[in-house]
Amino acid sequence: MEGLKLIDLGENETIKKQVRRGFKEQQPFESEDFRSANEISIDLTYMFDTPGEGTIRREDLENLIPAILKAHKMLENDEGDIHDGDICMTGWQNLPSEITPDHLDDIREVTEELAGEIDAFVSLGIGGSYLGVEATFHALTHRYFNQLTKEQRGGAPEIYFMGNNMDPDYFRDTLDMLEGKRIAINVISKSGTTTETAIAFRIIQKLLEKNWGARANRMILATTDKTRGALRKMSDRKGYRSFIIPDNIGGRFSVLTDVGLVGLAMAGVDIEEFVAGFRNMREIALQDDFWKNPALIHAGLRHAAWLKGKKIEVVATNAVSLYGVARWMEQLFPESEGHEGHGLWVSPSLYSEKLHANGQAVQEGERNIMETFLLLLEHDNRVRIPATDDDLDGLNFLAGRNSDMGFLNRKVVEGPAYAHFEGGVPNIIVEIPKRNAYNLGQFYYMMERSVAISGYLLGHNPFIQPGVEAYKQAMFALIGKPGYEDIARSMQENLKKMKRIKV
Ligand code: PA5
Repeated sequence: MEGLKLIDLGENETIKKQVRRGFKEQQPFESEDFRSANEISIDLTYMFDTPGEGTIRREDLENLIPAILKAHKMLENDEGDIHDGDICMTGWQNLPSEITPDHLDDIREVTEELAGEIDAFVSLGIGGSYLGVEATFHALTHRYFNQLTKEQRGGAPEIYFMGNNMDPDYFRDTLDMLEGKRIAINVISKSGTTTETAIAFRIIQKLLEKNWGARANRMILATTDKTRGALRKMSDRKGYRSFIIPDNIGGRFSVLTDVGLVGLAMAGVDIEEFVAGFRNMREIALQDDFWKNPALIHAGLRHAAWLKGKKIEVVATNAVSLYGVARWMEQLFPESEGHEGHGLWVSPSLYSEKLHANGQAVQEGERNIMETFLLLLEHDNRVRIPATDDDLDGLNFLAGRNSDMGFLNRKVVEGPAYAHFEGGVPNIIVEIPKRNAYNLGQFYYMMERSVAISGYLLGHNPFIQPGVEAYKQAMFALIGKPGYEDIARSMQENLKKMKRIKV
């Protein structure tokens, strides 16, 4: 039997885009036409006046506007509880207008040179040193990127992510994918001491050195802080090419720093377009007119929902490509808001898959949910629905209308938005026009600003994460890390008093 041919399906537009990017073709992202075709909007139709208890009225939002505008001004002026130690952590605010073309050229010089020499590139990092780069990579590339040819990838190497968990099976499986390949890595860690990343790094570093001796150092990029961290010291000692995470930008706000830019440039993403998206949304989000400022509206709606007893924000997308972006939100919001008993739990969801699972609870479960849809308006590809002779599934009516899957996939948001509203779940639809770097940049900046405003509204600093330390201390004590002896002792004492229950 011959292998399958994709008869009548045409070429994959995502691959065509990757190839064009490989030839350095740019989108006209500075043009008015491009900008107006790529405006992100928020549909609030289903946010107010849901049936049942805990309904949010438009007045609830309007009553918050003075506090939101005050927070907006404080953020712009770097005022309030926004420091980590003595560092004001709002460096991300003006970053889009501070990144220089020379800096982007430097990144491209290194990544293009390496891309020509390697088959695979591994990005090592966790949390803010991982989620943004992975989300953007998946949002803009073919689902099975690594299985395509290098030409189809636009000259980019295969891309892998490691250092984001400590599962030895995942680790080993990923190494198997790298066997026999020429690889380079980017180890990303602001602190340089994050256990998951550091362990993955030391194993791979050893492996590279065993294979290529001193030449391995050329294949290792390090993205870390400017002067202080452990990785900075190592990278200076070994002579790795290195990139910088500014002191005044925290991990989850760092996707536009070298944390995101290096890996994305390596994957062939147009980082200039990415920056342009951030810059455009910065202009929009600095406006003082509440109703023209999507970041303020977004922050206000979520805060109004939280005040009305909503505990969970289902962030649902109809685009597999955007699921990683929902996961990026799962970090950005709870890690920033989840202090002092506050904050919404963000639950990333892929529709329609989840509509056949926990969608039941969204429709009829406890009414403590709000929902944010990330609606991709235009997919890269059109896939037509064919008619069948017998029409046993009753779907020929779609074929008759010449519809494509993208049309139906939009209803996968519009249908649930209506149904969930009727079921008492207030929801908003964030409309993202197309899969491009510009829109991702716009979206990230809008969300970063929204969560910063949220910190002011909740009354605590969104740029620190003291709660994350608790798990680290317990884990370090359990593994016998030097320096954690006292904590280990007090854990032992406490554990002795607890009755172990195992069934
Ligand atoms: O948002 C944050 O600050 C965290 O999620 C960090 O990004 C994460 O813990 C990784 O830290 P580091 O870059 O120091 O390895």
